[in-house]
Amino acid sequence: DSIPKFVTPLPKPVTATPRTHKDLPKQSYYELSIVEGKHRFHKDFPPSTIWGYNGMLPGPTIEARKDKSVFVKYVNRLPARHFLPIDKTLHGASDSPEVRTVVHLHGAHVDWKSDGHPEAWYTKGYEITGPKFTREIHEYTNHQPGTTLWYHDHTMGITRLNVYAGLAGFYLLRDALEDRLKLPKGKYEIPLMIQDKTFNEDGSLFYPDQTDPPAPVHPSITLGMVGNTIVVNGKVWPYLQVEPRKYRFRMLNASNRRGYVINLSNGQPLIQIGTDGGFLRAPIEIPSIELLPAERADFIIDFSNYKGEKIILMNSDEEFADDHTNVIMQFTVDLPLRSEDTSEIPTALAPSMDVHTEHAHTIRNLPLTATTDEYGRLMLLLNNHMYHDPATEKPALDSIEIWNLINTAPVPHPIHIHLVQFKILERQPFDVELFDSEGIVQYTGDPEPPKDYEQGWKDTVKVEAGSVTKLIMHWKGYTGNYIWHCHYLEHEDHDMMRPITVIPDTH
Ligand code: C2O
Ligand code: CU
Repeated sequence: DSIPKFVTPLPKPVTATPRTHKDLPKQSYYELSIVEGKHRFHKDFPPSTIWGYNGMLPGPTIEARKDKSVFVKYVNRLPARHFLPIDKTLHGASDSPEVRTVVHLHGAHVDWKSDGHPEAWYTKGYEITGPKFTREIHEYTNHQPGTTLWYHDHTMGITRLNVYAGLAGFYLLRDALEDRLKLPKGKYEIPLMIQDKTFNEDGSLFYPDQTDPPAPVHPSITLGMVGNTIVVNGKVWPYLQVEPRKYRFRMLNASNRRGYVINLSNGQPLIQIGTDGGFLRAPIEIPSIELLPAERADFIIDFSNYKGEKIILMNSDEEFADDHTNVIMQFTVDLPLRSEDTSEIPTALAPSMDVHTEHAHTIRNLPLTATTDEYGRLMLLLNNHMYHDPATEKPALDSIEIWNLINTAPVPHPIHIHLVQFKILERQPFDVELFDSEGIVQYTGDPEPPKDYEQGWKDTVKVEAGSVTKLIMHWKGYTGNYIWHCHYLEHEDHDMMRPITVIPDTH
């Protein structure tokens, strides 16, 4: 607790530079090297070993345009050994090489062969590849509304370690709608990747190798890595000097297990303009926004009335926040206004598009349950199956489905579904005991609409404990092998992940 806060400046992640590729259109091809590097998390820390895209944490930001393909080759140049503790008992980790990578573009509407399937992993030089590996170059067609996406490691059984080691970056998809809005841009638009980390005395990253009480395997996965420092864009409790004007922030929770309830220390509201999948219909003033792992919020803060003040971005999450982790970073409004702020908070953003429940042709009841694995460790499952059981979720192309996520566990889970952006219909509490004994859903309270900050398109949703969370989604564009999973990375790596097979339309 002697780590000084707000003494390290917040960097803006660098923008990736395209390369030429003889077979691909100009400005469309990127090569990112996955390498071990040294990174300074705090101005008083020695450099720490990390794994980063181009050696950076966050990785370089990829700037993309709607409907214009981007091609990315993520080249694995990692050493042969992992620097974090590998649990060999987990799915996919027992009989495969220790160091493997595969990159998923989170929130993307993309062919499964470019999606970064967890079993599409590969080692250095593509020497050994996983059973679902098909191609070295990912093609992102970008046929979806502009939004904040992010790319991160998704390797079977070691995602939590690879992401914690540093493998995550932004992918900003822009479109004509955004061009027309006069939002703050350039240096007034800043992505914020929030993570939590714990450091050893020597400055190296700490990751636990055992549960409490200890499991009969070592190293063992835990229920979740919760760090004791908050890291934004790779810096511990940073500060950002701002001008007295509007700024746009694209916030991403890229933590393994920690959720945040973000708000400003001066009580000023956040002006939210977007969710995971794009712009809201209209901006909305919100006192606080909760973000579980992988969720994003696009918002504006207007500093124009706070010249000379220091404003802290707070975290009032009740699960883990303590006297240190209840703060995220500080804004110091001490830069002179360089020129008149001509940016605007538009009154309308995106046209409203709803998926209508009467068009749903499949309704799935999908329980989230707790059990124990063969070593007596708590293990969380989706639809009562392990990852390697055959797919049970097989939506037909062009169909609309409603998923009722029935959470019998005593903790919430951030559930992420690949390929689609969905809408949250409602949440409703139910009798968990009755469900556990007889498999019947009996509601114990009224349905609640999504929170005001969850009204738009989402790809990750908080499934509350003891509640049924109802989602609606349209399966379109692609058939093939996708997945859905809990985005608490320690749950995901321990079988809280299931295949999805999108099948051709049979009508
Ligand atoms: Cu952000 Cu399947 O992951
Ligand atoms: Cu979970």
